[in-house]
Amino acid sequence: MSTVTFRIFRGDRNGGELKDYTIEVQEGMVVLDAIHQIQAEQAPDLACRWNCKAGKCGSCGAEVNGKPTLMCMTRLDTIDTSKPVTVRPMKTFPVIRDLATDVKWNYEANKKIKPFTPAPNTDWIMFQEDVDRVQEFRKCIECFLCQNVCHVLREHDEKTGFIGPRLLVRTASLEMHPLDVENRLDMLKNEGGIGYCNITKCCTEVCPEHIHITDNAIIPLKERVVDEYYDPILGFFRRLFGS
Ligand code: SF4
Ligand code: F3S
Ligand code: FES
Repeated sequence: MSTVTFRIFRGDRNGGELKDYTIEVQEGMVVLDAIHQIQAEQAPDLACRWNCKAGKCGSCGAEVNGKPTLMCMTRLDTIDTSKPVTVRPMKTFPVIRDLATDVKWNYEANKKIKPFTPAPNTDWIMFQEDVDRVQEFRKCIECFLCQNVCHVLREHDEKTGFIGPRLLVRTASLEMHPLDVENRLDMLKNEGGIGYCNITKCCTEVCPEHIHITDNAIIPLKERVVDEYYDPILGFFRRLFGS
């Protein structure tokens, strides 16, 4: 057993401050355990969102010592507890209170993505490699840590014009589905803003599901957009035949 100080953001969208809470910690604790202990012993009104405590609901995202992470999957023995451990809400989204942020922007932006549209009367067979390719994207738990860390969203308060890595992953899961016949390339090029992604890969680094967001979702989608709109040979034939 040892003593650790947690420096936690307390406040709302109008502002706030970091407050220190010192607790006795046990071996094997995660940051979310510490937050619960602080709620139980010192700050019953400390707001934080969580549900599963197993890294699967995506609710408990926060910035621990500046790193976007799931609090329930961050063991105290993996971080430096010799000095105060800072815990802040995700920076990209508005704070509701303390560690709880308002992530509804993501659900609004999601409406830009046309839903799964299967080919009518198809007798196609799904091959295992097709299943594997989209299965990776289906592992997403919607924690929005990738949205939080992406500089394109982080630096633009309005967040118009770019749907962000999470929604590019969702678009990839639909575009790469062999039974889907919808075309989402126009959305990706325009209101989806895929051109704003400059492949920094910060999203991939923080994904708790280890989805290869940049390499397997974003880059292949970028290639499809380039093929569709910027390929000089295709463009020549389109001008020639007027399509
Ligand atoms: Fe979270 Fe990964 Fe899904 Fe992004 S892609 S929301 S980081 S699980
Ligand atoms: Fe943002 Fe990921 Fe691209 S962090 S810039 S979406 S590679
Ligand atoms: Fe569900 Fe952390 S509480 S992911």
